[in-house]
Amino acid sequence: MMADALAALEPVPGEAVLDLGVGGGWLSARLLARGCALVGIDPSAEVVARTRRRLPAGRFLEGRAEALPLADAALDGAASVNTIYFWPVLEPPVAELARVLKPGGRLVLGFQTAEAVRAWQGHVHGFTAWETADVEAALDAGGFRVVAVQAGRNWRVRDYCTLVALRAG
Ligand SMILES: C[S@@+](CC[C@H](N)C(=O)[O-])C[C@H]1O[C@@H](n2cnc3c(N)ncnc32)[C@H](O)[C@@H]1O
Repeated sequence: MMADALAALEPVPGEAVLDLGVGGGWLSARLLARGCALVGIDPSAEVVARTRRRLPAGRFLEGRAEALPLADAALDGAASVNTIYFWPVLEPPVAELARVLKPGGRLVLGFQTAEAVRAWQGHVHGFTAWETADVEAALDAGGFRVVAVQAGRNWRVRDYCTLVALRAG
């Protein structure tokens, strides 16, 4: 999923890009290797501390999608993989992503389909299984233009989407 998100983001050396929901840091490491000015944001202090040690060339901040600790129009691109299940409401993260991306900036969301999330028994513990159409609608209403929705499948997560949207304006 992250390899698909990386390809969809089309990162260019020197671009300011966000990895939202850093987790193990796979995507952050690849974006740094591509020469991007990488900022990684995660609510977990442990994730941030560990990734700062591992990837000192990146800037890693504690924060949440609903209140990004970034200036307006700070970013050329942003990617967030396997994080939307943690968003009980889509509008606040979408508004924050719209705020921090420059006009024309590229957003990539990678997420398991609602059906695949529901097939995982653990999803009952507070995870939201978002329908792809609802994600698209929230982005359209929140200042983005969805330009691609690519279907993927692998043995581990089953069906997933890689969605690309451009910041309008
Ligand atoms: C399932 S992991 C995914 C990590 C990585 N992106 C990947 O795909 O392997 C979800 C990550 O999102 C972070 N997260 C949870 N809630 C979040 C929120 N509201 N905003 C941003 N990140 C969040 C978690 O701390 C965790 O690191």
